[in-house]
Amino acid sequence: MEFWTSFRKKQVLDIILVFSIFLVLFETNGVESRKQAKHYEGGVVNSFQYSAISCRKHTASLTDFGGVGDGTTSNTMAFQAAISNLSQYASDGGSQLFVPPGKWLTGSFNLTSHFTLYLHKDATLLASQDENEWTVIEPLPSYGRGRDTQGGRYISLIFGTNLTDVVITGENGTIDGQGETWWNKFHNGELKYTRPYLIELMYSDTVQISNLTLLNSPSWNIHPVYSSNVVVQGITILAPVKSPNTDGINPDSCTNTRIEDCYIVSGDDCVAVKSGWDEYGIKFGMPTKQLVIRRLTCISPFSAVIALGSEMSGGIQDVRAEDIRAIDSESGIRIKTAVGRGNYVKDIYVRGMTMDTMKMVFWMAGNYGSHPDNNYDPNAIPVIENINFRDMVAKNVTMAARLEGIQDHPFTGICISNVTIGLTKKPKKVQWNCSEIAGVSSDVSPHPCGLLTDQGTEKACNFPEESLPIDNLVLQTCSYHLKCF
Ligand SMILES: *[C@@H]1O[C@H](CO)[C@@H](O)[C@H](O)[C@H]1NC(C)=O
Ligand SMILES: *[C@@H]1O[C@H](CO)[C@@H](O)[C@H](O)[C@H]1NC(C)=O
Ligand SMILES: *[C@@H]1O[C@H](CO)[C@@H](O)[C@H](O)[C@H]1NC(C)=O
Ligand SMILES: *[C@@H]1O[C@H](CO)[C@@H](O)[C@H](O)[C@H]1NC(C)=O
Ligand SMILES: *[C@@H]1O[C@H](CO)[C@@H](O)[C@H](O)[C@H]1NC(C)=O
Ligand SMILES: *[C@@H]1O[C@H](CO)[C@@H](O)[C@H](O)[C@H]1NC(C)=O
Ligand SMILES: *[C@@H]1O[C@H](CO)[C@@H](O)[C@H](O)[C@H]1NC(C)=O
Ligand SMILES: *[C@@H]1O[C@H](CO)[C@@H](O)[C@H](O)[C@H]1NC(C)=O
Repeated sequence: MEFWTSFRKKQVLDIILVFSIFLVLFETNGVESRKQAKHYEGGVVNSFQYSAISCRKHTASLTDFGGVGDGTTSNTMAFQAAISNLSQYASDGGSQLFVPPGKWLTGSFNLTSHFTLYLHKDATLLASQDENEWTVIEPLPSYGRGRDTQGGRYISLIFGTNLTDVVITGENGTIDGQGETWWNKFHNGELKYTRPYLIELMYSDTVQISNLTLLNSPSWNIHPVYSSNVVVQGITILAPVKSPNTDGINPDSCTNTRIEDCYIVSGDDCVAVKSGWDEYGIKFGMPTKQLVIRRLTCISPFSAVIALGSEMSGGIQDVRAEDIRAIDSESGIRIKTAVGRGNYVKDIYVRGMTMDTMKMVFWMAGNYGSHPDNNYDPNAIPVIENINFRDMVAKNVTMAARLEGIQDHPFTGICISNVTIGLTKKPKKVQWNCSEIAGVSSDVSPHPCGLLTDQGTEKACNFPEESLPIDNLVLQTCSYHLKCF
């Protein structure tokens, strides 16, 4: 068993590597880094470098804990043992678990604080399809029940709760949820509990999820919930466009989140901003706020590029999205809510969006329905206000917008400016179908509905100038050497 601090490791490896004619050495910021995966003495030296919220003093490989990357041996115990062992370093510089090249079949495992899970580019985690590998945990308090079934839910593949300073990253290594059996169970009504997500962090602070490819999640892909200071960057998410509820990234009752440089093809919303469901979400009372989404590319033929809701009962406030690219998607920005949800969706800002082949560009619905049970409060009317969309070009669009507020409780302060929508060969006759909304427009074509009062040209909708605190979070460069046999 090898178990070195990165410092001692570096010294040993330096001696070995001096004698190797194959190795190229170069200096970066005083830290050596080398071309990765050099073979010597039958082993492999992995040198790797990445950006992270913090670097770690201690590093171990999954193989140190008996991991076998053959695609058929279960590594659940290896992951659990490794992380349990590494958790002892939380107050001693933190630790990192390296997952080498290979196919690592595993059930769920829990992360720890001051910890990094690092996947080599040729490492694939394969989610176990054995239901016994999935602990059933309590429903989220803000949902009151599982999303698929009443009662509990299968724990996520990679799970963490009450953590601080957690990184899940790699050089585009893969996490494959092997979701098809779960999708079939969902379609056939055979689920005992709600399907697992791929990555869920609850009640956590300072979280980074970056540079990974997530495939075929059983359900949602990335779910930070009741968390703060979350960065999701450089993630590729792929799932069949007809797979059920394979949402990309769902910040849920989170404060100060940054989602950037992601590419998502999925069977549900690419990004769905949430905060709990009806009376459970209202009681829990935790909004999602201070969210930045930028440089997102989305393909979602049956869902939205960015959805707000439908579960929004803790409130959603101060969302800023920019540089968004949508291809072949059902709608660009969608607000989903209903009587019984309560709270609000307010101070939403989107600018710089290009769209090609869309059923709809904008969609707001106050009658989304979908209640957890019949105990929702019919007087809990959600307030939707100060919604700003500007600087967008769309082509091959079937319908510009469906904007439907709640009867006698209109959605207000809607502003749309500098938006050019090109239509498909067979567009809808009515391009803007509006009811129970109020707002303004400027430089929008085709011409919006009368409820969006035309302000004339060059009146731009708001987009806040000052940045959010999450943009002050700076990533460091971390470098490591690791010998694995
Ligand atoms: C992700 O990978 C890119 C390209 O290799 C790199 O520039 C960037 O620093 C990485 N970011 C994170 C947060 O891992
Ligand atoms: C866990 O870490 C300790 C160092 O505290 C080490 O001695 C031990 O071998 C490790 N255990 C396993 C199972 O690897
Ligand atoms: C992971 O954490 C959850 C929730 O705290 C717990 O129910 C589960 O048993 C833990 N799993 C392991 C393998 O420790
Ligand atoms: C996690 O934090 C929440 C909120 O602070 C708390 O209610 C819960 O008891 C904590 N859970 C654990 C396992 O510490
Ligand atoms: C990561 O891998 C996916 C899947 O192979 C690929 O589509 C994507 O382009 C890769 N991203 C980077 C940054 O290399
Ligand atoms: C209108 O939006 C386009 C992007 O779609 C942008 O390039 C242009 O600068 C905007 N015009 C104004 C006046 O802001
Ligand atoms: C335009 O949209 C229609 C669907 O409305 C689609 O069938 C067609 O392929 C799209 N055309 C182009 C050029 O993308
Ligand atoms: C507009 O939307 C309403 C639902 O709010 C629907 O009943 C009506 O048929 C739509 N009108 C058109 C012309 O599409």
